[in-house]
Parts: sequence; structure tokens; C-alpha cells
Amino acid sequence: MELTELWHFPRPDLASAYLATLNAGLVTSTTIFAPRRTGKTVFLLRDLKPLAESEGYTVVYADLWQTRQTPGAALVRAIEEALEPHSLLDKVIARLQTPVKALKGKAEFAGAKLEGHIDLEHDPKREITDTALLIDALIAELTKRRPMLFLIDEAQALGRSKEGEEMARALRTTLTKQQRKLRMLFTGSSRTKLGHVFTNANAPLYSAASTVQDFPLLGDDFVDNIARRIKESTRRKLDVAAAREAFELFGRRPEPLMEAVLALMMSPALTFQQTIAMQQEKLARRENHEGTWNSLDATERVLVRMLADDPSIKPFAKATLVRLRKHVGIEDLQATHVQKALNRLAEKTVVAKSPRDVYEFENESFVDWVRNIVD
Ligand SMILES: Nc1ncnc2c1ncn2[C@@H]1O[C@H](COP(=O)(O)OP(=O)(O)OP(=O)(O)O)[C@@H](O)[C@H]1O
Ligand SMILES: [Mg+2]
Repeated sequence: MELTELWHFPRPDLASAYLATLNAGLVTSTTIFAPRRTGKTVFLLRDLKPLAESEGYTVVYADLWQTRQTPGAALVRAIEEALEPHSLLDKVIARLQTPVKALKGKAEFAGAKLEGHIDLEHDPKREITDTALLIDALIAELTKRRPMLFLIDEAQALGRSKEGEEMARALRTTLTKQQRKLRMLFTGSSRTKLGHVFTNANAPLYSAASTVQDFPLLGDDFVDNIARRIKESTRRKLDVAAAREAFELFGRRPEPLMEAVLALMMSPALTFQQTIAMQQEKLARRENHEGTWNSLDATERVLVRMLADDPSIKPFAKATLVRLRKHVGIEDLQATHVQKALNRLAEKTVVAKSPRDVYEFENESFVDWVRNIVD
């Protein structure tokens, strides 16, 4: 288990406030914005979800961040997981026409070889309509039993493609239809991109009542809690004022502070100021895209470019190796070289494999920067 998980700082009041707002019914959905790595997902899964469940909701969570699936498939998949027993799911599918069956396959095996076998592939418009229909039918089935809270993480992805926009429209229709039993909460880490989905004129999920809310970031009480935990487990005293200041400096992102604390616990010779300085340096490096790029060797650069284009590529697949050899210009480049380059990229905190099984860049703005490099 990660240190950060063991040290979870619960936010029950915030969860209650959000849920109460949705329960009240003045709005049926709400959208929250917070910068990356500030704790949105943890809040949804560790705080809001259990609370909503205890109040009788069926909670469905979908993460649209760099998913290998299309947003539609990711949404379907998330609802499917909540629809147990599976006979119910089959009932819904059976009620719809056969093409949707193929879609179900797609949702389950998206990204895998099945993709090529989908008859609907040739008619993307039809496919989108079917996914929308399926989402609507699945939600109708789910909400028959209990109210449903649909948590859609990194919802700005809905604005990235035509399909995403159609899904957003479908969600809106469903939300209107099921407004007595359905609530949605969207999150996003790009204000501009969220605007394309929720607030701009013509935004597919535009609704007069729901603006994009700022998600309250963790604050002093979070830092105080850490200080207390450290004292309990190490008898070492953290300078609380300095820690609060550092947390502010880190944009109230838990990770650098936790890492500093970890370093402090493991190396008694270090001072807190030193560990903070180390984290600061690391963060500063992150903002220096050109510097980061210049610090990469040829293999690392080609890998970074490939991963920026498609975070789900398999770096060790034969086809990838062939491409790498060509672009790096080294004939006998082997998988071990690729592995080493990937290790270096992870060490430099550029990009690393995530538990979600795709490669995740540490810094989204670096990815954008890389994508825009002109040869
Ligand atoms: N309440 C909390 N208590 C302790 N640690 C937390 C808390 N919330 C978040 N963290 C830690 O902060 C880090 C970022 O959290 P999380 O992944 O929830 O952020 P996010 O805003 O969803 O980030 P992303 O933009 O990557 O989706 C994680 O390491 C997480 O463990
Ligand atoms: Mg998240």
C-alpha cells in the first residue's frame, strides 16, 4: 500500500456538502475543477463514494483520463460493472437490437484485438448512437432499483472527440429523463477544456444551473494531520509552520510534501528544510520543458514522443521496436535498451507506467509541449 493511502486524510464535511447539494435537487449535476494531483480522485473514491453508498445510492465511477477505450466504451464499462447480477445486464442488451451486442464486446475488450471484428466499425455514426442508447438503457435499469450517482473523472476528455461530445449529449438527455433518480458529478483538471464541455455556448453538457465549481484544495488541517502522524510514528517533530508554508508552495499537492516527509523519516541526517528544497528542485525541473527535453537521449526522446501520441503503446512489441530503431537510428536497439530508457524516464519523473496500465506523464503541459515540437 502506498504511504499516501495509509495516510489518507478524510474529508467528510466536503463529501456531505457535495452530496447534500445534489440531494437537494436544485441541480442534477455538478462539475468540479482542480489542478492535477490535488486529490480529486481520492476524494471521489474514498470520501464521496462511501458516503453516497451509505445514503442508498448506487455509485458508478468512470475515469476518462487517457483511457485506452473511447469515452463511450469507458462509460458503458463503468455502468456495466455496477449492474450485477449479470443477468440484468443481459436483459438490457437483449432488449436492444443485435448491433449493440457487438458493442458490448467492444466495451469489454476495447483496445484488444476484438476491435477489428466489430461490424459497426464502418458506420461510426451508428456506433455512437448505439453506445448512447446502451448507456441510456443501462442507467434506466440501474436507477429502477436505487438512485444512482455517476462520478465521471477527468470529464474534459468528453470534449476531445466527436464521439466524446456525442456521449456528453447522451448523458445530458439521460440526466433530464432520469432526473428523479440520477445525479452526476464531473471533475476536470483543465479549466479551458472543461469549458468546452460544460460552460461555453454550444457546450454539449451546458446547463444554466451548473457552473464549474472550484474544488477546495487540501489545507492546513491536512498538514497538521501529517505532523501529528509523524510524531506518533517517529517521535520526530515536524515544524508545522514550515510544513504549511511548503504545502502552499507545492500548490497544495500532497505528493511533494509526503515525499519530503518520507525522506525525512528515512534519513535522520536530513533537515526538513533540505527535504523541502529537494522537492522544490524537482518541481522546478518539471516546469522547464526545454531543459527536460534537452536532458533526454535519443531513445528517450523517441519514446517520449510515441507515448505522448499514444500512452497505451506497448514499448516492447515488435512493431514498436521496429519503429524505435528507425527513429533512433540504431539498428540493433533491443528491448533491454528500451527498458533502460523507460527506467531513466521514470527516474527523471518524466513518464512512468501507471497502475492504470498506461504510461502517464508527470506533467500534462510537458506532453502538450512535446506534441507541438516541430521537426
Ligand atoms: N485526502 C488525502 N489524504 C492524503 N493523501 C491524499 C488525499 N487526497 C489526495 N492525496 C494524495 O495526493 C495524490 C493525488 O491525488 P489524486 O490522484 O486524488 O489527485 P487528482 O487530482 O485526481 O490527480 P490527477 O490529476 O492525476 O487525476 C495521491 O498521491 C493521493 O494519494
Ligand atoms: Mg484523478
